[in-house]
Amino acid sequence: MSILKGSIGVMDSGIGGLTVAKEIQRILPHEDILYIGDSANCPYGNRTAHEIAELSRNMLRYLGERGVKVVAIACNTISTLVDVLTPDFDFKIVGIVAPSAAYVARSGIKRVGLVATEFTVATGNYDKLIHQLDPTVQVTGKGSPLLAGLVDRGDFNQQEINTEIRTQINYILSKDSEIQHIILGCTHYPIIEANFRECFPEITYINPALEQANAVRSYLEENNSLGEEKEGSFTICTSGDPEVYVQVAKRIRMKEPSSAIHIAL
Ligand code: DGL
Repeated sequence: MSILKGSIGVMDSGIGGLTVAKEIQRILPHEDILYIGDSANCPYGNRTAHEIAELSRNMLRYLGERGVKVVAIACNTISTLVDVLTPDFDFKIVGIVAPSAAYVARSGIKRVGLVATEFTVATGNYDKLIHQLDPTVQVTGKGSPLLAGLVDRGDFNQQEINTEIRTQINYILSKDSEIQHIILGCTHYPIIEANFRECFPEITYINPALEQANAVRSYLEENNSLGEEKEGSFTICTSGDPEVYVQVAKRIRMKEPSSAIHIAL
């Protein structure tokens, strides 16, 4: 008997969290997933902490009212505020930065780059959580004010995408030319991992989505709350255009959504 009831909530400022929902679908196929993306207000990464927390509370309330047993904040930017948001809700909230930092620390990588939103980099959350586990790792971050917003439009052929990738990574390599590993520290970025590889094929990119999905699974296992033996549903709710989400889910080879609807947030 499962103790906690409800769906797994997955939330992001926009389409990026689909990269995490994909991994949850893969490792927990019996779970119902309720995805929420706030594309009307994306990008979050250029906003203040207060604005990001308020917008995130809206999404968490929406999920809570529909019954969730755990929420994966599939957004690095929002995850830097996980300790601020957690006390307001009675369900477990799993961020993405901590599992990602734990992965870097145990991988033995000693020099790592971080591409993320300006907010994520400015908080120093990645540096702090990696250094708690391994103070010898050198982290070089660069925040992009543009990339999450460009990706969230759902048009991946824009020339600005590759131009922005080059600007960010050239900056990181100018600070530390020995870096071989770069964290895709914004969940929108794995959607355009092919662009990153095209621009800098010599770099190994770290996509933390699987680490976060594993953290969700561990929480459900520890609480005896894994879903029953049935095909899990996949519902998308967005303040943006649901069709963009359906197309991105297809592009990254997810299971087809059961429904995709527009909501006001
Ligand atoms: N996917 C979000 C992240 O991981 C994008 C942030 C934004 O909306 O700026 O940081």
